[in-house]
Parts: sequence; structure tokens; C-alpha cells
Amino acid sequence: MAGLTKEQVLDALRKVRHPHRPGDVVSLGMISGVVVKGGNVGLSIEVDPAEARALEPLRRACEDAVKRLPGVTSATAVLTAERAAGSASAAPASLARPEAPARPAVPGVKAIIAVASGKGGVGKSTTAVNLAMGLAVLGERVGLLDADIYGPSLPRMTGAAGRPSARGAKLQPMESYGVKVMSMGFLVEEDTPMIWRGPMVQSAIQQMLADVDWGELDVMVVDLPPGTGDAQLTMAQRVPLAGAVIVSTPQDIALLDARKAINMFRKVDVPILGIVENMSYYCCPKCGHRAEIFAHGGARRCAERFGVDFLAEIPLDPEIRELSDAGRPIVLARPDSPQAQAYLGLAASVRDKLAELAGGKVRRFPRILWL
Ligand SMILES: Nc1ncnc2c1ncn2[C@@H]1O[C@H](COP(=O)(O)OP(=O)(O)O)[C@@H](O)[C@H]1O
Ligand SMILES: [Mg+2]
Repeated sequence: MAGLTKEQVLDALRKVRHPHRPGDVVSLGMISGVVVKGGNVGLSIEVDPAEARALEPLRRACEDAVKRLPGVTSATAVLTAERAAGSASAAPASLARPEAPARPAVPGVKAIIAVASGKGGVGKSTTAVNLAMGLAVLGERVGLLDADIYGPSLPRMTGAAGRPSARGAKLQPMESYGVKVMSMGFLVEEDTPMIWRGPMVQSAIQQMLADVDWGELDVMVVDLPPGTGDAQLTMAQRVPLAGAVIVSTPQDIALLDARKAINMFRKVDVPILGIVENMSYYCCPKCGHRAEIFAHGGARRCAERFGVDFLAEIPLDPEIRELSDAGRPIVLARPDSPQAQAYLGLAASVRDKLAELAGGKVRRFPRILWL
């Protein structure tokens, strides 16, 4: 059926009553966002964080009510906690929210770093995973947060499967090779289209930072969504970042986007830890011949021009992709390979830069991880 509207969705939601309060979810002002894309519907439901667990049946009731509408192929509802509890909104379907406090720190987490790229497909997630695991090999306590809500790939790349469990008001992160991992991919069905945008993305990320029991971490690596648009800018502003690693391929177009990403972080005063050139050159697995397929070295020149550090060049290598698809990051699966060494070098540079930024001493006691 063509032309499913927000109004129809809200009408369906008016039939869902709050379990403890008089009224339905719409008239109580709890629906803070509705996105309709074809037959796919995304909703955010504003709740008091203390009630979040108790309201899980309400969340499902909202999904079910929307799914019953003709023409709806999927419905995904998330509980969010942004406004003060009980404050009924005059404009229930509006996505507008009051400004959240800027960059609340995550207790117990010493440094949060973003892995970012100007555009998608340059290997940002692959780099984020191998960097995080590389930091763990070096003995750091590491978390990995998949903020790429449109295309979460960390569940597959880390091999972590299942659903995070709740303990008290907090979700327990998943774990992969000693690294704590959280991703929207664990929380929604795999075939649910990712249709959240803007403000909903923001609240999901803030929830994954604040409502997950990360424990004590030296570093949290955040895989940001690609691009330099408003959503990325807001995220760079809201997440308390100690620094950003920019991933680019050597091609001119990608480098142009990398420059935009550098400028974006500069605008919001996030230090650039440096640039990684991914798919930098091709190393023939048979003869070891190194072929520079895309005029390699562009990222190094870009880094020089922008006055930021060049952190690593990672070869284009079929094994990196194969192991990544199998949930076994190469940095752990083939620790002696030159590719793994390149990631370990990246991890060591990032660790040293964070120590420098924090004014602390540089630690050099690698811990061996066994697979
Ligand atoms: N250095 C590399 N060598 C070979 N394949 C790579 C490399 N880096 C990434 N890939 C592959 O390229 C694709 C895109 O990488 P991904 O990390 O998902 O990019 P992004 O997160 O930037 O969209 C994936 O299939 C990944 O396995
Ligand atoms: Mg990705």
C-alpha cells in the first residue's frame, strides 16, 4: 500500500495505553519521534530511565500496534530518555528535543577515540576493530562502540553474537577476545532496516555510552558513521572524544573527504591523532611483490599539508577482508603477518599519543593474547 503516513502511525499508537498512567502513549507525549520510510517505521518512545525495563512490554505493544497497520513491513521502537520524566510534549511527533548537556564524560573510561572517515567503504570499521584489538594486545583495557547505526558491522567483524543482558539499569556489553563490544546490531533484529536518523541516532549513541556497563577502560574506540554531515558533526560534539583517527584510501576523492573530516573535528576542538591510509598498496600473497595500485602515499601528503600525523599504511589484502568477515580480526588471527604488524604499529602510535595528550608516561608492556 502506498503512502503510509505519520498520522496513521500516531493513530495506531493512540490505542496503546500506558500500563500505570491514565492515557495513551501519544496523548501522554511519549512519542518523541516517528520516521516512515516506505513500509518501514521507526519510533522513539520517551521514558523515565528508571522505568525503562518495566516499560519493555509497552515498547513491544507499540511495535505490534504499528505492525498491524496495512502496508507496514517492519516497525522498530526504541525507548529513549532525554527529557525530564513525565514532561508531556505539546508536539508529540516532533523530533525536537532540548539540548543535552555537551559531552558528559563516561565514568571509568579514560579516553574515547573516534575512528572516522569522510566517506563510507574506505575500511573504517575494519580499522576500528583491528585498532581496538591491537590496543588490547598491547595490554590496554579496551571497549569498542559501533556508532554506525545505519550499517552496524561490528557484530560480524568481532564475531560476537547474541544479545546483551541487562543487569540492574545497565546493559552488559558483549565481549570479543577480551574487548567489550556494543552495537545497535545486537539490539535490533538483523533484518530490521536501519531507518533512524538525526536525533534518534544521537539518543541511541548516548544510550550506548551511558546505559552500558563499560566498567574500567583505558580506551574506548568508537566506529563513527561515515561522512561529515550534521549527524556526524553533532556526534563529534556530543561524544566526549579525546581524539580522532581519520581513515582514508589513497585516491584523491577519498582524500578530499578525509580533509573535510579533519576540518570537522577541528571545528569542534577534537584533536586529530592522525591519518591511516587503508588499501595503501597491494602485496602479492604468492611472491610478496608490492604493487602501488592507487598512487599510494596520498594520505601521507594530505597529513603533511594539514599538519597532522601520519599513523599507518595498511595494505589492500584479501586476508584482511576474509578474516574480518569471519569475525577473526587479522591482528589476532595472524599476529606475525606484516598486515597485523601494521595494525599493531597503529595501535602503539595511538596509545602513545593518548598518553602524551593525558600528560602521562608511555607504558610499554605488551600482554600476549592467545586465540
Ligand atoms: N586493507 C584492506 N584490505 C582488503 N579489504 C579491506 C581492507 N580494509 C577493508 N576491507 C574490506 O572493504 C570493505 C569495506 O570495509 P569496511 O571496514 O566495512 O568499511 P567502512 O566501515 O569504511 O564502510 C569490507 O568488505 C572490508 O572487509
Ligand atoms: Mg563501517
